[in-house]
Amino acid sequence: MNNELLYRQRREQVENRLTELCHADEVPQKRLLESMNYSLMAGGKRIRPVLTMAFCAACEDDPSLALDLGCAVEMLHTYSLIHDDMPCMDNDDLRRGKPTNHKVYGEWLAMLAGDALQAEAFYTIANCGLHSAQIMEAVKVLGHAAGQRGICGGQYLDLDGEGRKRSVSELFATHGMKTAALIEAACELGCIAADAGVFQREAARRYGQVIGLAFQIRDDILDYEGSSEELGKTIGKDEKSGKFTFVNLYGLEKCCEFVQMNTDEAIRVAEDSFKNSEFLVWLAKELAGRNN
Ligand code: IPE
Ligand code: IPE
Ligand code: MG
Ligand code: MG
Ligand code: MG
Repeated sequence: MNNELLYRQRREQVENRLTELCHADEVPQKRLLESMNYSLMAGGKRIRPVLTMAFCAACEDDPSLALDLGCAVEMLHTYSLIHDDMPCMDNDDLRRGKPTNHKVYGEWLAMLAGDALQAEAFYTIANCGLHSAQIMEAVKVLGHAAGQRGICGGQYLDLDGEGRKRSVSELFATHGMKTAALIEAACELGCIAADAGVFQREAARRYGQVIGLAFQIRDDILDYEGSSEELGKTIGKDEKSGKFTFVNLYGLEKCCEFVQMNTDEAIRVAEDSFKNSEFLVWLAKELAGRNN
């Protein structure tokens, strides 16, 4: 099947499953669920769950086995976006082409929606129907990517670094934790769903690490020169908030080279380690040139 079509098909499977997993019942906390769904169902590229399914397929297993693990990653990702946009963090007004969660629901509800989505991610893994050893591994991998070793650690470095110049290694650590860690986890989770061995799990992590880094550098480039309509978020925010990004450090041209280098490495890893690498190769290339 054509890769573009396969991507759209998997994205649709994710959308449908997220709708099932997070429906707003007639419960007293209905507005909390609405706020969670407002951000969760606002679109988004869904690249993380698509990667989870793609790695399960690359390990020659049925990708739908990895669907719930992918949805868990998307829930956790959405929580990180809701909190990232809040006034105490990046203070953004636009996300996924819509007003940010706190602009619609207010700060305390946005905070709770994020908290609840993070918890739902682990609840979803616990109930995903894989066997208990797989569930334990999945919790370990996602917990590693979410906490001080991953997103929270990276967000700390990102915010703490505002307004000052940072070293290359600080910047690598920030991007590696705030963005690449979750992408890395998304890839490894696909291998866990397929019960793959350590060699493929390691290769999936490496692929995720390098495309994750390329992904955040591309994000920095788009914040500098992208279009708000296409991106669905405000641009020029990094400069305004005094964030020191790869664009400040290397300039645009070198950043593009860097994205390409990391993409090439991801392609090499995918081709060397997986028989069904075609989709992974295609996706790495697509992400390198993305405009949204
Ligand atoms: C945005 O992630 C935050 C970053 C890590 C750069 P995405 O670009 O994947 O956002 P959505 O999910 O498509 O909205
Ligand atoms: C995103 O970094 C990191 C997260 C963990 C959410 P950014 O702050 O650059 O992401 P955008 O540009 O707001 O999507
Ligand atoms: Mg941020
Ligand atoms: Mg932000
Ligand atoms: Mg950004």
